[in-house]
Amino acid sequence: MQDLSNLYQPGILEPVPPVARYCVFTLTDPGIDAGAIQEALTRLSPLADGSDVVVGFGPSLVSALACEVPGLHEFPEDFSGHGVKVPATPGTLWCWIRGSDLGHLLHLTRKVQKALRPAFGMKHVVNGFRHAWSDSGFGKDLTGFEDGTENPKGEKALEAAFAHGLGQGLDGSSYVAVQQWVHDLDAFEALGDREKDNHFGRRLADNEEIEDAPETAHVKRTAQESFDPEAFVLRRSMPWMDDLRAGLMFVAFGKSHQAFEQQMRRMAGQDDGIVDAMFSISQPVTGAYFWCPPMRDGRLDLRRLGLGVA
Ligand code: HEM
Repeated sequence: MQDLSNLYQPGILEPVPPVARYCVFTLTDPGIDAGAIQEALTRLSPLADGSDVVVGFGPSLVSALACEVPGLHEFPEDFSGHGVKVPATPGTLWCWIRGSDLGHLLHLTRKVQKALRPAFGMKHVVNGFRHAWSDSGFGKDLTGFEDGTENPKGEKALEAAFAHGLGQGLDGSSYVAVQQWVHDLDAFEALGDREKDNHFGRRLADNEEIEDAPETAHVKRTAQESFDPEAFVLRRSMPWMDDLRAGLMFVAFGKSHQAFEQQMRRMAGQDDGIVDAMFSISQPVTGAYFWCPPMRDGRLDLRRLGLGVA
């Protein structure tokens, strides 16, 4: 495969950090001119190193700049059905602010907010964290199950997560699906040990896959090689919590939105009427797509958006 070194935002490939903030911004005035947006993005540029701050552009922002990114579109509204709701909550600009100290993240978030004013205002922020991190390089979902086990690795991770062969300004970019799930931990805790294992299709005790797990089991629904074409993504999800609620901030990076869509449709019962067991202990409350531009000389490469290297 083509060499993508230095072309992608490195935070996408790095393991998830100890703490992170997921910030969604919207335009303060939908009719704002492209020049004001460009000024805000130029101020954001020194902060957007692709590692401490990973940036994604929503389809509406690309349109506001009178540009086009192939394959980028809003989160589909038609995943819902078969008794499950999968909301679409479009966002304009997404910043995944990453680090190891929540205080530092607060200050970095404030810098990002100030840089983006007055064109953009913060719409939504969720604080994420790593849980039960192990030397294997994986953390756990709040249910106690390891999350990320079947992520593609090495060259396969690059192949799955980043656009390639599309030309300058696109190669190394990534299409991300961001979906906040709210867990019903009481419902999960009410399950017996075997039901918990069957829920995921893996054994909590040793993380081994259960060959004869029910068709509703999460890893049976989403088995990446079982799709046609195969549907590999690079998941970088993290647990989150606020005062009263907790869950998983599901984040999946792909070379396009296709693989996520194949998985989501099957989870929601659209392939065969069988709904993923996950919906019985957790509900998605947001769902948005963003395009994470590539990097060039350590800066976001926004040539595709007519802005050169920001
Ligand atoms: C509450 C929400 C979710 C939770 C708690 C969750 C948790 C997990 C866990 C524990 C695993 C097994 C270990 C691993 O391979 O990572 C897994 C696998 C996986 N999940 Fe999820 N997940 C959630 C939502 C989703 C969604 C929305 C998608 C995509 C639409 C998805 C796609 C996948 C994929 C592709 C795998 C690997 C399947 C394989 O190839 O074996 N998950 N998930």
